[in-house]
Amino acid sequence: MKYITIAIDGPAAAGKSTVAKKVAQVLGYTYIDTGAMYRAFTYYVIKKGLDPKDEEASNSLIPEVDIKLINDGRVICNDEDVTQIIRETYISQNVSYIASYKKIRLALVDLQRKMAKNDSVVMDGRDIGTYVLPNANIKIFQIADVRTRAVRRYEENLEKNIITTLGEVEDDLRKRDYIDSHRDFAPLKPAVDSILLDTSFLSIDEAVEAVLNIVRRKLGEN
Ligand code: CDP
Repeated sequence: MKYITIAIDGPAAAGKSTVAKKVAQVLGYTYIDTGAMYRAFTYYVIKKGLDPKDEEASNSLIPEVDIKLINDGRVICNDEDVTQIIRETYISQNVSYIASYKKIRLALVDLQRKMAKNDSVVMDGRDIGTYVLPNANIKIFQIADVRTRAVRRYEENLEKNIITTLGEVEDDLRKRDYIDSHRDFAPLKPAVDSILLDTSFLSIDEAVEAVLNIVRRKLGEN
């Protein structure tokens, strides 16, 4: 059986995970949230009392970190359910340091590739189309203007009882986008063969429909 892979990349809070999750649901594919894996690693580094800005100290945890993405959306890190806590502001503010360390990326990319091996998947992240799954059947680069992204994330935070101001959220997105797109290894950038999807003026349902149209068109072509 031939498995289909859909890569959705883009800057922080562009709505990738919301859209990717729904597209996966409609198509009956598995959704893989790679950002949750970097967030879980960051959580573990901080929990162990280490500084996420310290590359060597963070790398030293690679052999003992065990991250699992469960199909129902839960994220498990070394037997602890970290689904909620990895969305907290202190994780968002540190995750881009952890994600810039090559050894940690290689360990997590290895897991991501294994997950996509025996399944049709929708995988979202920053380097899926460029590095993790360079042969993905469909590659989408999802963007939205930074103010729209900040408002969306601010509202998501409110629903999750994460207390932030809109200004703090916007600063965090800008800072992460800068670090993510300027790191040496597998930076955030559109794959040359990706399709740009600007969701600034699209509702969630419209964005999902846009992705499904791209998928139908692409798969119909082959
Ligand atoms: O949901 P949001 O857009 O805030 O971010 P996320 O997808 O949860 O990713 C959190 C962070 O993980 C990003 O800012 C990147 O630093 C890192 N990341 C990455 O480097 N590569 C990926 N494939 C996914 C996430």
